[in-house]
Amino acid sequence: MTLTSMTPISQMQEIAAASRLENVRYAIRDLACVADEVIKQGRKVLPLNVGDPLNFDFQTPPHIIEAVYKAMRDGKNGYAPSPGVPEALDAIRGEAARKGITTVRDVFVTSGVSETVDLCLSALVNPGEDVLTPCPDYPLYSAVLCKLGIGLNAYDLNEQDAWQPELADIERKLTPRTRGIVLINPNNPTGSLCTRQMLEQVAELARRHNLIVFSDEIYDKLILADANGEVTPHIAFASVAPDVPCVTFGGMSKNYLVPGWRIGWGIVSGEASAVKAYTEGVHRLLRARLCANHPEQYSIKPALEGPQDHLIEVQRKLRSRRDLTQRWCEATPRVSCVAPRGAFYAYPKIDIPESDEIFVKELIRQKHVMVVHGSGFGQKPGTQHFRIVFLPDESTLTKAYAGIAEFIGERYGS
Ligand SMILES: Cc1ncc(COP(=O)(O)O)c(C=O)c1O
Repeated sequence: MTLTSMTPISQMQEIAAASRLENVRYAIRDLACVADEVIKQGRKVLPLNVGDPLNFDFQTPPHIIEAVYKAMRDGKNGYAPSPGVPEALDAIRGEAARKGITTVRDVFVTSGVSETVDLCLSALVNPGEDVLTPCPDYPLYSAVLCKLGIGLNAYDLNEQDAWQPELADIERKLTPRTRGIVLINPNNPTGSLCTRQMLEQVAELARRHNLIVFSDEIYDKLILADANGEVTPHIAFASVAPDVPCVTFGGMSKNYLVPGWRIGWGIVSGEASAVKAYTEGVHRLLRARLCANHPEQYSIKPALEGPQDHLIEVQRKLRSRRDLTQRWCEATPRVSCVAPRGAFYAYPKIDIPESDEIFVKELIRQKHVMVVHGSGFGQKPGTQHFRIVFLPDESTLTKAYAGIAEFIGERYGS
C-alpha cells in the first residue's frame, strides 16, 4: 500500500478518553494552566500549591544520595524483586516496630505512596463496592477510585473538632458494600493529627463492619510543636489496633526530602487469617508491574536507620513558617484557620461571596500567588477554603500573604 492510498488523517474520528475518567481531577496541578497564562506575560508566580520541599530551602540528606549513587555504580540497575529488595524490606519492618506496629504480616516497596494507594485500592474493590475516603481528601484517592469505576463515598472531617474524622458521618455513610476506610494522618490538606481516642473509635467501627483501614502516614515525621512548644506525638493507627486489617502507607518523598525518587511502601498488619487473601491480591499486582525503582530502594535502609539530623532542621523551619501562617490567618479579615499540627499545609476557611475556585484563579491572575481551592479537595457544602503550602522561607511567605490580604481587601472588602 502506498502512502497516498491511506485514509487521510483528517477523516479519522476523535479517540475518546474513557468516560470513567470524567471525574478524575487533580486540582493541585490542574491550576498550572492559569499560572502558565501569567508566566507567558512575563510574571513570576509564587507557588504555594505543590508540596515539594525541594522547590524551597530544603536539602536531601547527602548520605542517602551517596547510597543510591553507590547502588547504581554497584550495578543495581536491572529489575528488582517485585515486593522490593530484601535490605529495604528489613528496614521497613524495623520502622514498623519503631512505630509500635506489632502484627506486621507483610511489607512491600512501591513507586511512591501514589503507587501504594493505586495498588491497595485496586486489590480491594469490586464493582458496586466502595471505600470511605475523607472529605477534604488528598485527591489521588478519589482519582484512583474514579479510574476503577467506583463511586465516591466520602466522610466529613470536622473543622469544629480540629479536623478530626466525624464518626457520626462515617456511621451514616457505611453501607453493606463498604470494604475499607482511608485515614490520612498527619492530614493533607488540613495539617491535623488524629487523636488516640479517634483512632480507637475508627478501629472499633472497622471491627464491627469488617473493614480494612488504609492509614496514610507519609508525613509521620513532620510533627510540629504547638504554640507552647509541646509536641503531640504521632500515633500509628496499626499500633492502637493490632488486630484490625490495615495497610500503613509510608515513604521517602516528604520525611527524607526526595519526592522525585518515587519511593513508598505499604506495611500490612492485623490478624493473619484476615489479611492473607488480600495480601496475595496485592502481590499479584506487584508482580504485574514488575518492580519499584531499583537503585533508589537502597536509600531506604540508610534513611530509616541512619542519622535523622535533617528532621530537626526541617521541623524548626516548618514550625516557624506554620506560626507565621497562623498569625497571618488570625490577623486577616474573612480568613480563619485551625492550626496545623503536622505536614506543611494549612487549610484556612475563607468567607467570600463567590466560589473558592474563582478566588484562587483570580488570585493567580492578579497577585501571582498560587494556592489551591478547597473545592479541589472537597469540603462541606456552603463552606470555602484554600490550601496553603507553607514550605517557602519567611520572607517569601510574608510577600505572598501580603498579596493575598490585599486581594481579599480589594475584591471583597474587609
Ligand atoms: C497524603 C499523601 N499521600 C500520598 C502522597 C503521594 O506521595 P508520593 O510522592 O510518595 O507518591 C502525597 C503527596 O503529596 C500525600 O500528600
